[in-house]
Amino acid sequence: MTAKIIDGKLMAAQVKQEIKKTVAGLNQKPGLAVILVGEDPASKTYVGGKEKDSLEVGFYSQIKRLPATASSAEVIGLVEAYNKDPKIHGVLVQLPLPETMDEDDILNRIDPAKDVDGFTYINAGKLFSGNPGHVACTPAGCLEMLKRSGIDIKGKNAVVIGRSNIVGKPMAMLLLKEHATVTICHSRTKDLASVARQADILVAAIGKPKFVTADMVKDGAVVIDVGINRVDGKLIGDVDFDSVKEKASYITPVPGGVGLMTRAMLMQNTFNAYKTLNNL
Ligand code: GUN
Repeated sequence: MTAKIIDGKLMAAQVKQEIKKTVAGLNQKPGLAVILVGEDPASKTYVGGKEKDSLEVGFYSQIKRLPATASSAEVIGLVEAYNKDPKIHGVLVQLPLPETMDEDDILNRIDPAKDVDGFTYINAGKLFSGNPGHVACTPAGCLEMLKRSGIDIKGKNAVVIGRSNIVGKPMAMLLLKEHATVTICHSRTKDLASVARQADILVAAIGKPKFVTADMVKDGAVVIDVGINRVDGKLIGDVDFDSVKEKASYITPVPGGVGLMTRAMLMQNTFNAYKTLNNL
């Protein structure tokens, strides 16, 4: 079987177009504030992408860049100011923060209603308990790609490789909410390949280039590749795309897959925050 490619570029463009159309008719623009601390090159690229997307869909965009020498108190002061700012509906602190800063403490200062990354304990807890709240953009994007591809999730065996708070754990919760039978694998999992081979839906989020090979994939499985690994200046996913695409029924490419949909979901979460904060 040769897999259908799930086109993240096309789907992200559709999501953004839907938002742009609605935003054009509003009196006030939804506003997204992004705080970037330090000079991490990948973070600078991501923040640039967020600003570009915000302007593209017609949002008000505020980017605050602080030097790596900034204090936690400065970052917290900014977060608290954005929490109160009526022009701002989404607040995002780009990660990683400098090692001297307490990431959890800073993230949890964000008003949960404006926490468009879904990283506060309140929003993580809401997802865990099955209540509505902001869901982290990458897993939300993966789910959106499955749904827009018409893939049935109910009753399927879903295997998530990776247990991070940002992707693996929330992804598992979302799939569970869609009535999949969910297994989470990680670095200590015994015979990970045989667990992965049980998957009807396989999500790879381990951060190791080409970790998932064809022998780990069941014939006809849906394979979602969350990996963004920079190897010799090239972006390589966690899935060995060339071999796995011959076995899977659907597969997401890297680049052109989950990454673009993650960015689109940030726009969606900001728009959702705007609606909730305005009782719409
Ligand atoms: N750094 C890498 N991915 C992310 C993300 O999704 N959100 C934030 N805030 N920082 C990140």
